[in-house]
Amino acid sequence: QQLLNEVEAFKADNLQQVEEFRIKLLGKKGSITQLFAEFKNVPVEQKKEIGQKINVLKDAVQDKISSIKEVLENKDEEGEKVDITRPGTQNEIGTRHPISLVKNEMISIFKKLGFSVAEGPEIEDDWHVFGALNFPPEHPARDMQDTFFIEKNPDILLRTHTSSIQVRTMQTQKPPIRVVCPGRVFRNEAISARAHCIFHQIEGLYIDENVSFADLKQTLLYFAKELFGENVKIRLRPSYFPFTEPSAEMDVSCTICGGKGCNVCKHTGWLEIMGCGMVDPNVLEACGIDSKKYSGYAFGMGLERIAMLKYEIRDLRLYFENDVRFLKQFKSAL
Ligand code: PHE
Repeated sequence: QQLLNEVEAFKADNLQQVEEFRIKLLGKKGSITQLFAEFKNVPVEQKKEIGQKINVLKDAVQDKISSIKEVLENKDEEGEKVDITRPGTQNEIGTRHPISLVKNEMISIFKKLGFSVAEGPEIEDDWHVFGALNFPPEHPARDMQDTFFIEKNPDILLRTHTSSIQVRTMQTQKPPIRVVCPGRVFRNEAISARAHCIFHQIEGLYIDENVSFADLKQTLLYFAKELFGENVKIRLRPSYFPFTEPSAEMDVSCTICGGKGCNVCKHTGWLEIMGCGMVDPNVLEACGIDSKKYSGYAFGMGLERIAMLKYEIRDLRLYFENDVRFLKQFKSAL
């Protein structure tokens, strides 16, 4: 019993002490080995009881040795002991950027309508960004103040809208065409709470026989309801784009006040979210599509604007600052 207490109380700081402990008890001359040697002298009637006790003792020593070793061997690279019972440090899990969130949501809405996703280069030539889209040679959008040029003559530039992807799609696919084109675009604008020189767009294009303005309107209404909820209203106002005819701008009833009037909609009850229209026959022809047989609609919108409405973000610059206090707020939106 005394030996058993000693075994229970044993502590060691290193493996050598453990080894000494083992030799002292279980080695050739160890106390327990000796007990086994003396066992033959035990009277027969006590053999059972004493034998059991010695075995318990031996097991206790072996358990003790292996548990101490387990702790001692849990060391880090510097040989420092590691407390394996300490709670671990949690891995920080990132969050999706609000722009990615709305982009993914919008893509999934259009996928339900049969649209697929097309992408294209950020560095483009004049033809894909302007020429094929019916911009006259002196159109102000080509102006140095608006477009970032990389080279002049021939003009290489950063795309100012994702309509260039639609041009590339029309060149390579035959109708029916149904694509949405998300991407980053660049315009030489002063950075403020409401404007940035880099932003994101998603544009859509549908070309087939007998596509009408009614198809466009119904698609956009469905889209607005999926994105902002069943009660949202849409309004189309006449507008102008070189690549669509007729053209319109689409407003949705203010998603903040529900159309009643607030600061965000400047008390009009409406928010402008996109441009759209019927693809100009000149554009179809420029891209090798028979404009007598086919017609189509196109639309385009800025993702920053939509995310602002959805998440009530008041300053565009927040999207680009990578401040984790801002980004972390979208954890639940994953
Ligand atoms: N490309 C236009 C823009 O960048 C948006 C648009 C796309 C308008 C398609 C009409 C049709 O502002």
